Amino acid sequence: MISAESSYETLIGKDISRAADLLKEGTLVAIPTETVYGLAANALNTAAVLKIYQTKNRPQFNPLIVHTSSLNEALKWTDSFPEEAIKLAETYWPGPLTLLLPKSNLISDIVTSGSNLVAIRVPSHAMTQELLQGINFPIVAPSANPSGYVSPTNAQHVLEGLYGKIPYILDGGSCRVGLESTIIGWNPEGKAVLHRPGGLDTDQIETILGYSLQRPAINNHHPLSPGQLKSHYAPHAPLFTHEQELTDINQIEGVYLIRFKEFHPSFPLAQQRILSASGSPEEAAQHLFSVLRELDALKPVRIYAEKLPPAGLGIAINDRLERARQIWKHS
Ligand code: TXA
Ligand code: MG
Repeated sequence: MISAESSYETLIGKDISRAADLLKEGTLVAIPTETVYGLAANALNTAAVLKIYQTKNRPQFNPLIVHTSSLNEALKWTDSFPEEAIKLAETYWPGPLTLLLPKSNLISDIVTSGSNLVAIRVPSHAMTQELLQGINFPIVAPSANPSGYVSPTNAQHVLEGLYGKIPYILDGGSCRVGLESTIIGWNPEGKAVLHRPGGLDTDQIETILGYSLQRPAINNHHPLSPGQLKSHYAPHAPLFTHEQELTDINQIEGVYLIRFKEFHPSFPLAQQRILSASGSPEEAAQHLFSVLRELDALKPVRIYAEKLPPAGLGIAINDRLERARQIWKHS
């Protein structure tokens, strides 16, 4: 019997049927999505789902997103699907939208951490679509990184975090979006709530809905969407977001800057990374996690990250930077 502690010779490849076979036998496989890479398991196999928590070292109170191939499939795993949810699904699926809806009894409490709501999405990456269409069960897939660390946006990133812990990484290249999906749920008054800003422009969602998305109250003890835990998505290096603090530094050795589109004029160029020279928030989102990982590997003394204008994907990017800096706030 293969347990989650087994040591594997982790392989990277493009063999979709191999990934499908592994999932069918209850083994975990890393898969590409348009947002970030996921660590996938058969959502209907409890033992396989439990391996995800062990492999990622993820607390069991943090539930998993169910991934299916289409809206029709998603209807099977939910108990009700409000009209607004249908409208958003029809607009954005396949794509980086996760909906939080009442779960069907077919989805176990292990997947939802005991909640009667299930988070569900239809990813658009062509390889994962083909994979999902070739199996007769939905998959759960949290980001394929050790819990708390930066999400992976290419197969190499997955290997760095999970080498030896899974047998196979399905290589679908670099993720097109680069940030996790946007999570939307509904409050008891029937209004849509933004649980996690992500790969979609929330202004556009608000235009479709005809009203402003509600914000959930952040509560670290009973998080509605634990991705909203304050410290998350964090590199090992101390990360700061306030550019003003830069003026206090008289030592620049080991200090790196992440800038949106322009280099800081009075700082060594080799210690700066630009997210998008053309000033595109979409391109900045694609590069953010790679840049955080690249700089982290240099073991910097500090990283200073410039925030983006708070519109469109800039909101989700700023959210991730804010969470990445939280743990250093008081040190
Ligand atoms: O883009 C994505 O969503 C990626 C790719 C792989 O699909 N997945 C991802 O999964 O980001 P993960 O596990 O890293 O983040 C899922 C977030 C967590 O914050 C989790 O707490 C929340 O979704 N979530 C999942 N199920 C939930 C539920 N039933 N109720 C509330 N929050 C839920
Ligand atoms: Mg994650």
